[in-house]
Amino acid sequence: MRVLVTGSAGQIGWRIARHLKDRHHVIAAVRTGNIEGVESVEMDITQPFSIRLAVDRTMPDAVVHCAAMTSADECEKERDACWHVNVEGTRALAEECKTDGARMVYVSTDLVFDGEKGNYAEEDAPNPLSHYAKSKLAGERVVAEILPDAVIARTAIVYGKGGVPPRGFAVWLVDALRAGKKVPLFTDQFRSHFYLEDCARAVGLLTEGKQNGLFHLSPGWRQSRHEFGLAVARAMGLDERLIEAVSMKDVPSDAPRPKDCSLANGKLVRATGFTPTPFADTLKMLKREFF
Ligand SMILES: NC(=O)c1ccc[n+]([C@@H]2O[C@H](COP(=O)([O-])OP(=O)(O)OC[C@H]3O[C@@H](n4cnc5c(N)ncnc54)[C@H](OP(=O)(O)O)[C@@H]3O)[C@@H](O)[C@H]2O)c1
Repeated sequence: MRVLVTGSAGQIGWRIARHLKDRHHVIAAVRTGNIEGVESVEMDITQPFSIRLAVDRTMPDAVVHCAAMTSADECEKERDACWHVNVEGTRALAEECKTDGARMVYVSTDLVFDGEKGNYAEEDAPNPLSHYAKSKLAGERVVAEILPDAVIARTAIVYGKGGVPPRGFAVWLVDALRAGKKVPLFTDQFRSHFYLEDCARAVGLLTEGKQNGLFHLSPGWRQSRHEFGLAVARAMGLDERLIEAVSMKDVPSDAPRPKDCSLANGKLVRATGFTPTPFADTLKMLKREFF
């Protein structure tokens, strides 16, 4: 298959491109520059002409759409820019996929839920709190309307090294602990922390498969942000005393935060045979990524 991965300089897109490149002809779509070791094409998803050029040049069978404005606080402040990238950019890309007959896997987020229930399944009703989450849900709806055969892959928050330069929660946490900085982590926010390579593997299975519709991508368990941070620090031999237990109410933010956006993975497991790597093993693998 020829697979075009948007947002390939980002944490998840980069890892998906690496994961798929041994089995498929992967083309990494980036805003500027290129990704080492992977054929790359420049594409700005806010520019329909740029999308058309990139898709016409690369003729993908499938497009894994990861490009997005992803900082919830930035999206809260820059609402028009967020909508332009996450909804209108997605619409333009979906239209191009329809014209060119490419299948789309749209990477969405656990944050489409309000966090009041937790362990969300695909049939649970979304109720996004932040502007970022609202834009991602609107992106899902645009994709489903234009491309009924698309996969909408809502992934839980990921941890692992990915992106150029590497970015995301694990990179931030490890850098801070190595620098001896205190790290406040929430005891009252729960997520299904998902190992980045497992996320790439799950997206890979859905890209190669014949499924369509909504899927939740997660390991199937949940931890508080604080529990997770402690586990990472211990596994990496970093100073866990630097991790401070805090409540969400103690740390103001522009974007509202849900309490428990953990995701159930039963549909993904049944449809693809996906098995999550045991948590302890992911921590050993994570350590190898950083040391
Ligand atoms: N990280 C998570 O835990 C998580 C959890 C759930 C869902 N997701 C979803 O997964 C997807 C990937 O997230 P991520 O963590 O990999 O985010 P990321 O590291 O911020 O990467 C996003 C990528 O999108 C690119 N991008 C932004 N605006 C663009 C534009 N106008 N044209 C082309 N590319 C543009 C960025 O390019 P530059 O590198 O040039 O800035 C970046 O490479 C997103 O759709 C996000 O909503 C992420």
